[in-house]
Amino acid sequence: MSQRHKEARFNFKLRTNMTPQQIMEMFDDYADDYEEEALTKGSRAHEIVGDFLANTYPESDRSSVKVLDVGAGTGFVGMKLKALGFTYVDALDPAQKMLDVAKTKNVYRHLICAFMDKNRVEEIETDFYDCVTATAAFNEGLIPCNAFPQLIRILKPGGRIVFTVPQMHVDNAVEYRGRLIPLIDKMAAGGVWEVTAIPLADGQLSNCLGPGFLYSLKVNVSEKYFEI
Ligand SMILES: C[S@@+](CC[C@H](N)C(=O)[O-])C[C@H]1O[C@@H](n2cnc3c(N)ncnc32)[C@H](O)[C@@H]1O
Repeated sequence: MSQRHKEARFNFKLRTNMTPQQIMEMFDDYADDYEEEALTKGSRAHEIVGDFLANTYPESDRSSVKVLDVGAGTGFVGMKLKALGFTYVDALDPAQKMLDVAKTKNVYRHLICAFMDKNRVEEIETDFYDCVTATAAFNEGLIPCNAFPQLIRILKPGGRIVFTVPQMHVDNAVEYRGRLIPLIDKMAAGGVWEVTAIPLADGQLSNCLGPGFLYSLKVNVSEKYFEI
């Protein structure tokens, strides 16, 4: 791991020239320190997403709601969801060492080491999950816009993609600038999903990421492939 890639943990601009493989290696190398640093920065996207799911799914239904936590990292979302009564939660992340930490939490049923991108993750069946979550995983160099067709594929019709994204990444991340929000709006206009967008004030996601949004995309279709 070069010094430059180590600095890219905190300096998002340094990620713009990194390949997905290099991003994955950066997180593998980050696994032992990630939680302490995330807590120091006051990361709380997992709390926001967990609370949203708790408001969406009545307590009596939660044990049967199948959730995939994409970009699960060391398992913050899984821990929050377990505390809320969600017991069917899987994790997906390309960084095996992050997943190794997540596994020690005993909150995920199944851990899948894979990228979420335009490629099909063969071990996930079509129309399988009720909900996909992603926290701190829509940022520079991480989940690409062309992952949405696969997210739609693995969700049941009526399922939800629930994620947070800081406004600074909507505005500046190479992958999202001028693309992410137009894509969300275009698919909404085409009836692919219904959008709930909840503004988050500075400090709600963490101490340093500024304001942002929680998006919930309620998907109306089974499979939908589109060029992005
Ligand atoms: C900043 S961590 C967030 C972890 C956790 N969700 C949290 O809130 O603490 C981002 C995670 O996304 C993973 N990641 C990177 N690219 C990804 C991709 N294309 N698909 C899924 N996960 C990805 C990284 O390996 C890393 O573990």
